[in-house]
Formats: sequence, structure tokens, C-alpha cells
Amino acid sequence: MKICMIGTGYVGLVSGVCFSDLGNDVICVDKDINKINNLKKGIIPIYEPGLEEIVLKNYKNKRLNFSTDLKNSIKKSDIIFICVGTPTKKNGNSADLSQVFSVGREISKYINKFKIIITKSTVPVTTGDELEKIISKKISKNKFSVVSNPEFLREGEAIRDFIYPDRVVVGSNDKKSNLILKNLYAPLISKGAKYISTNRRAAELIKYASNAFLATKITFINEIANFCEKVEIDVEDISIGIGLDKRIGSRFLRAGPAYGGSCFPKDTKAIVSTADKFKIDLSVIKSVIKSNKQRSQLLLKRVNHILNNKIKNKNICFLGVTFKANTDDMRDSSSLEMIPYLAKRGAKIKYYDPTGHKHEFDKFRNVSCSNSINNAMKNSDLIIIHTEWNDFKSINFKKLSTTKKLKIYDMRNIFSSEKITSLGFKYFGIGR
Ligand code: UGA
Repeated sequence: MKICMIGTGYVGLVSGVCFSDLGNDVICVDKDINKINNLKKGIIPIYEPGLEEIVLKNYKNKRLNFSTDLKNSIKKSDIIFICVGTPTKKNGNSADLSQVFSVGREISKYINKFKIIITKSTVPVTTGDELEKIISKKISKNKFSVVSNPEFLREGEAIRDFIYPDRVVVGSNDKKSNLILKNLYAPLISKGAKYISTNRRAAELIKYASNAFLATKITFINEIANFCEKVEIDVEDISIGIGLDKRIGSRFLRAGPAYGGSCFPKDTKAIVSTADKFKIDLSVIKSVIKSNKQRSQLLLKRVNHILNNKIKNKNICFLGVTFKANTDDMRDSSSLEMIPYLAKRGAKIKYYDPTGHKHEFDKFRNVSCSNSINNAMKNSDLIIIHTEWNDFKSINFKKLSTTKKLKIYDMRNIFSSEKITSLGFKYFGIGR
């Protein structure tokens, strides 16, 4: 298959590279010339384990290419994936679809034979209908088909999630395109992925409903964790106890800081906003958004309590500042609320992140980036474990001096209270 991926962000780049690895001819297009030139040199714009190797292998094999030439890339391809951003609108909660529609207009100029045009970006229900209208202003409807094929990959696990997905969802209103896509995904289906063929609007909604449900599950366990803290129960026992019920399932039941990233916060707002337009009140998701918004303040209250309401001049170490482990992505990370809050109250903050320095904290004189875990932890009054990188799981706290009454706030519950207290430190976790 000849495939064109428009947009080399997370979804576009990872899917494009993986499609080429499955034996297709893929051209990844982006208007950012620097990004494209770098990709041609093997410089990857995002941190994603395993991605670089697959890019280099397939670029060398000439199955994968990068270009800024939208016109020729569209002309040469049978399948075009739209993978541009759908951020939250500046004034409101709905998704900004301007990039999707602008790409649609561009595609309509260069259709020279039958094309399948696929939205892989997360788009609200009925976006495919709009896109079809835009393209059909220039091109007759029998020359193209608009399909929804949402992506479910997670940052940090993207390659694995692409190759071994639980399901592939294809929403198409025409049978021919559906068959072509089933064929494209055949190597993944043969490895056990379920292929869900549905109509276009349903596929669009499946993506939003999935992310909203996962965000709800996390928020649910976060609130149960708050309850556990009051009644001296370990939330980890609750996660195991309920997760073993197959109707509930054990994944995404890890209590922690507010969920973040480029997807859950944006997509929960967008689904609510789309439903509002149809006069449907998604009250459960609305309360999830509200609860998650309050969560960082709730955790900061606990920090205050741990430090006996004396934040000023306290040395606080943050281990991990991205929104989760195995990514360099800072978007909607709860550290963006926590670190400024503590810095403004006079704490001296050192942070260490395996993906390095973050410019977001540069404006605070009392926040600095350390080049090692040990340097970050030196002389701390409080260590906050903010993300669950494996690097942190193997920290040897024994090396730290016990003269100071060091406190450890483990926001990902990666250590046991017994282990830390046996070393002479004070341990605080989430929901324990
Ligand atoms: C999420 C979905 O998991 C993907 O299926 C989806 O494709 C993607 O959004 C997207 O729409 O593109 P991602 O944002 O990469 O993926 O990250 P997740 O691993 O889902 O984590 C999101 C947030 O939830 C993080 O802040 C994480 O720390 C938090 N989380 C996750 C928990 O607090 N507890 C959990 O048990 C799981």
C-alpha cells in the first residue's frame, strides 16, 4: 500500500513508521521543514522508546520517507491519514478542528485517483461528515472515501501499542474502503488484534468514550485513595481487590497525581462540549474533569501538612516532572501546578527528570534542574516522587543521611512504607 501520513506528531510519526515496518511504502509529511530535515538525518523529535531504531531501519530500506511536499505525497498515495493536532480551542472547551479542515481542503486539490482519507487524529463525532462536505466541494464523491480510524497508543508504550493493539477500530460508510483497511491491518489481526468495523460516527465516538472512560477510572480510584487516607487503608489493596473482578479490570487503577498529558484533559473537555451541542449532559465526565482539576491542590495541601505548614526555605526534590514515566512530554503535567505553587511560597526546589531540563521552570529563581538523582536529593527536607520511572524504583536511599528527618512523598506508590521507614525516613504515599 502507498500511504501518506499528514502530520508528524506523536500519532502520525509512530503510526507511519510502524506501517512502513509492516511492509508499506510510507511518506510522512509535515510543513515544519526543520522537523523533516532532522527526521531524514535520523533525529527524532519526540522521546519514544524503540522509535529511533524503526525509523532508521525503514528509512534505510526506502520504505519510509519524509517530505514537506504535500501535493506530490498525496498524488502518489492510495491512503491518506490525517494526523494533525486537534487542541482545545483558545476560548472554550471544544476541539479546534481548523488544521483537520485545512488539510482536507489541500487534499481536495490534489486527488488524481480514488483515495481513502482517514482521520487518525482524535476528532469529535460528525467531523468526518464535515470533512466529506469540504472535499466534495471540489471532487466527486466516487473519487474518495472519508474513514475514521482512531489510534489508541500511549506515549512511552507507543510501538508496542501499535503492533499489539487490543483492537483496531475502522469506521467507514463504504464497504470497499473497509476491506482495504482490513487488509492493511491484516498483520496485526493475525497476531490477535480484534478488528471492529463500524460506521464513521461510531468510530469517532469510540475514541472519545475510551479516553473519557479511562480518565473516569483513574479519577474514581484517586477519590477512593482520598477516602483510604482517612480510614488507614492501602488503596493498592482496593485496586487489587476490585480489579480482579473481570467486569472492572485491573488496569488504569493506579492512584496518583492528577491525570495529565495531551489527551485525557483535552478529550474529556471536547466530548462534553460536543455532547452539549447536541443538548446532552455528560454529567459523569463533567465531574471527572472537576475532580481532576482539584487534585493538584489536594496533593499540595498534603505537602503542606507533611512539612508542618512551613514551606518557606524548605529543600524539596522532585523526581520526575513529566506527566508520566517514559515520556518527555510536559503537557498538562501536574508538576506545572505543583512546582510553581511551592516555589512561590519560598521552597527551594531541585528536580531531576530522566528526559532532562524543562524550560517551563526557568522563570523561577528557586527552581533548578539537577543532572543526577543523587544531586537532586542532596540536602532535601522532602523528596516527591512524581513519576514512576524505573530509574527511581532502584534508588538506594541508604546512601542518604538520616541525621535530617527526611520525608518522602511517593505520589506513585512505588515503594513500600515499611522499606522507607526501616531506613529511618518518614514515608507518605497516595491513599495509604
Ligand atoms: C492516552 C490513552 O491511554 C491512549 O489509549 C490514547 O491513545 C492516548 O491517550 C491518546 O488519545 O492519544 P497517554 O496520554 O499517552 O494515552 O497516557 P496514559 O498512559 O493513558 O496516561 C494518562 C494519564 O493518566 C497520565 O497522567 C498517567 O499518569 C495517568 N494514569 C494512568 C494514572 O494516574 N493511573 C493509571 O492507572 C493510569
